[in-house]
Amino acid sequence: MNLDKEMLPKHLAIIMDGNGRWAKQQGMPRIFGHEKGAKTVREIIQEVSEIGIPYLTLYAFSTENWKRPKLEVEALMHLLSRYLKKEVAIMQENNIRLNAIGDLETLPSKVRKELYKAMEQTQNNTSTTVSLALAYGGQQELLQMTQQLAQRVQQGLLTPQQITPELIQQTLYTQNIPPVDLLIRTSGECRISNFLLWQIAYAELYFTDILWPDFSPEELRKALANYQNRERRFGKTSEQL
Ligand code: IPE
Ligand code: IPE
Ligand code: MG
Repeated sequence: MNLDKEMLPKHLAIIMDGNGRWAKQQGMPRIFGHEKGAKTVREIIQEVSEIGIPYLTLYAFSTENWKRPKLEVEALMHLLSRYLKKEVAIMQENNIRLNAIGDLETLPSKVRKELYKAMEQTQNNTSTTVSLALAYGGQQELLQMTQQLAQRVQQGLLTPQQITPELIQQTLYTQNIPPVDLLIRTSGECRISNFLLWQIAYAELYFTDILWPDFSPEELRKALANYQNRERRFGKTSEQL
C-alpha cells in the first residue's frame, strides 16, 4: 500500500480493543488475549516509527477498567510491568521515546517504577513519541485541568479571560503533543469510551472489526490509506481549501 509521506497524521491514537473476545474465540482465558495484544503493540509501534508518524497514543487501561474482576486487573498490571522491562531495549534500538498519560499515581508502585525508568531511559529519543494511556480517563483529565486553572484564578495568578484553548491544551496530560489527526478503534465497537475527549475534536475516526490481537502492520496501512483519502475541512467549504 502506497502512502503519501506528506499526508501522514502527525498524531495517531488507537483504542486497542477486542483482546478478550479474541481469547474467547480461541477457547482461552482473557489474559491470553492481552498477552497476544502486547505483541501487537510491539509490531505496531515499530511500524508507526518506520512509517514516520511522530506521535502515537495507545489506550492501554482506562479509569473504568479498574472495575474489571480483580484477577484480570492484577494480570494486566503484571503484564504491563513485564512488557515495560522488556520493551526498553527495543525502543532504544528504534529511537522511540516512551511517555505515559493518565492518573499514574493510582498504578501499583512496581508498574510506576518500571514506567518512569523506561521514560527516563528513552527521553532523548527522537523518532516517535509513544504515549501509553494508563489509568486514563478523558473526563478525569478535563476535571484535573479545570481544578488546576480554578486554583490559579483563586490565587490571583490568572484571570478568567486569560483562559484560552491554548492554555487549556497546555494544562492537559498531552501538553506538548499536537491534536489527534486519526483515531483508530479495533473490534467493531463504535464509541470513544472516555478517550482523549479534548484532543479528538477534529480527528478523523476509523473503526475496524478486526480484534486488536489480529491488527497488523498491513491493517494499519489500510487505515492510513483511508485517512489520506479524506477531505479535512475544519468547518470550511470544499472550495476554500
Ligand atoms: C482491550 O481488550 C484491552 C483492555 C481494555 C485492557 P478488552 O479486554 O476490552 O477485550 P474485549 O473488548 O473484552 O474483547
Ligand atoms: C476501552 O476499551 C479501553 C481500552 C482499550 C484500554 P473497553 O473495552 O474498556 O471499552 P468499553 O467498556 O467496551 O467501552
Ligand atoms: Mg473491550
